Amino acid sequence: MIDSTSTAATGGVSGTAGPTVNVGIVGVGNCASSLVQGVRFYADAGTGEDTAPAGLTHPVLAGYAVSDIRFTSAFDVDTAKTGLDLSEAIWAEPNNSRAFAEVPHLGVPVTEGALSDGVGRSSSERVAARGAATLDDIVRRLRESGTHVLVNFLPVGSQAASELYAEAALRAGCAFLNCIPSTVARSPRWAAAFADAGLPLAGDDLKSQFGATLLHRALVDVLARNGVRLRSTYQLLAGGNMDFLNMQDPERMATKKATKTQGVYGGSGERAPAHVGADFVPFLGDRKVAFIRIDGEGFGGTPLEIDLRMEVDDSPSAAGNVLDAVRCLKAALDRGIGGVVDPVAAAVMKAPPVALDEAEVAAGLRALSDG
Ligand SMILES: NC(=O)c1ccc[n+]([C@@H]2O[C@H](COP(=O)([O-])OP(=O)(O)OC[C@H]3O[C@@H](n4cnc5c(N)ncnc54)[C@H](O)[C@@H]3O)[C@@H](O)[C@H]2O)c1
Repeated sequence: MIDSTSTAATGGVSGTAGPTVNVGIVGVGNCASSLVQGVRFYADAGTGEDTAPAGLTHPVLAGYAVSDIRFTSAFDVDTAKTGLDLSEAIWAEPNNSRAFAEVPHLGVPVTEGALSDGVGRSSSERVAARGAATLDDIVRRLRESGTHVLVNFLPVGSQAASELYAEAALRAGCAFLNCIPSTVARSPRWAAAFADAGLPLAGDDLKSQFGATLLHRALVDVLARNGVRLRSTYQLLAGGNMDFLNMQDPERMATKKATKTQGVYGGSGERAPAHVGADFVPFLGDRKVAFIRIDGEGFGGTPLEIDLRMEVDDSPSAAGNVLDAVRCLKAALDRGIGGVVDPVAAAVMKAPPVALDEAEVAAGLRALSDG
């Protein structure tokens, strides 16, 4: 989450008639559905931090209100979604995230994307995929639609497809937000390409606004601060959405394990053995159950055990941080900041290239807001 004290100085709210944050979406799945609904749900939230409705961390961030966010382009390869208006595609199966807002017709067609490695073995039976668009087609669509920030919500494990859309963002002059565990912001090559182009980049693998990674990390930190030595830990997850189905492919899950483990330990040196697992349980739908266990050693070498269960809606919690990140990346774009925007990546990503502490994140975001 982005600390609100870091963003109090917002340099003037743009308001609906002023500059906008034009967002393109790659992958109109559950997270996209929650994001699109969220912009609608909080559109009338006003600008007061004290009167913010539940779930909204920043009515105004980096000079932008939620109502300044517009959706301008969307790409998918599922024929159940392509050709539909974005407001309709978010309800198409196999999406199964909760409906919490009515979304009017947006005038944004979901365009056929480029398939690459986007659809994996486990999900191939549930997705009628057709993705024949070329890189040039995607670049053209991004340019024509005036997209500022391209958000990557591809299925876990889509490394080649993520790089293809990152390249399209570069060529079209867009910022890129990599919400999935593929290596983009952590890649020196991509970081340098965005820096050279003067375009902002943030990644990799979005943190939920309040999720298992945040809770697990907080526990590990507080134990370490109080002298408890971690011996081992696990995080076992269960859910019934497409993300969990995709995580049943071992090679796709490998990338998630890596970013999850980095999310729990951050940049800290010594790491106890950690296990991350994810099961697909269809009847859970978009509910996610997390079991976290920690074994530690306390005063006098005495054993300490923590077992914790948490249950949340998976996708809305992810969308909350995206609402913040797209506004920050647009502010970076406005200011000509290129390359990985470290405070944004450290605030909302499980595996940022550079780990910053809270004070460093706050200072970096304040600088972004102040211009
Ligand atoms: N809490 C969360 O839900 C959370 C948190 C952090 C990160 N993430 C990551 O966000 C990503 C999206 O999650 P989701 O739950 O929305 O997944 P999802 O499976 O519901 O949606 C993915 C969408 O991408 C589409 N797609 C596949 N290949 C494509 C291609 N080549 N081009 C365009 N579209 C393509 C699919 O058809 C589908 O509509 C996942 O990688 C997930 O790991 C999710």
